[in-house]
Amino acid sequence: MADTDHRDFWEGLYADGRDRWELGTAAPPLAERLRTLDLTSLSLAPLGGPGRAIVPGCGRGHEVLLLAELGWDAVGIDFAEAPLLDARAAAAQRGLAPSFVQGDWFAAADRPGWRGSFDLVVEHTCYCAIDPSRRRDYVDTAADVLRPGGRLIGLLWQCGAEGGPPWDTTPDDARRNFGRWFTIERLEPAVGSLERRGGEWLLEAVRR
Ligand SMILES: C[S@@+](CC[C@H](N)C(=O)[O-])C[C@H]1O[C@@H](n2cnc3c(N)ncnc32)[C@H](O)[C@@H]1O
Repeated sequence: MADTDHRDFWEGLYADGRDRWELGTAAPPLAERLRTLDLTSLSLAPLGGPGRAIVPGCGRGHEVLLLAELGWDAVGIDFAEAPLLDARAAAAQRGLAPSFVQGDWFAAADRPGWRGSFDLVVEHTCYCAIDPSRRRDYVDTAADVLRPGGRLIGLLWQCGAEGGPPWDTTPDDARRNFGRWFTIERLEPAVGSLERRGGEWLLEAVRR
């Protein structure tokens, strides 16, 4: 198993203040897309409003908090405890009530009531953080927790790095892995990325 497959690896980075991916806010290209989603035409409002959304490897939960603010029944899952404590504190301070679950994304579909129950998966720097040999498992899990017709919106990072994390993500990699279970509707250079995050791609894909 790679280091990144172990919870301790991530707990250690947070404990040592080496969480250099931290943006302090939802990633701007994702935030813009989530704020402007037409829920009705995308069938994302099963009960007349935003449905159920999950963010794998959510860290301090900035995307989860944004989803909750937008009315989603939002869940964040992460291996590490420390960022989830911060995420819960931030939710309480903002009067929001998303769920933050400490656990392994790769086992998410086995949690009671999770398989096939989500309308939306939001990806931000989890896909590039796991060992590339597990990318198919990542996509399988996303497919398993979504209902048919559910959507994945993700910011993928073509960081150009040798090794990782973060591991480089190319559009070809995304097409190959996500294409197994998803119809890719959009895969294009992201607009509004922060300067330190050049090479981001916005992916939007629908669970077949
Ligand atoms: C690079 S950080 C990104 C955090 C957050 N998405 C952000 O952008 O600020 C990757 C996160 O994924 C989590 N992670 C890695 N593998 C995981 C797994 N198998 N299950 C759950 N979380 C995982 C780590 O603990 C870490 O918080």
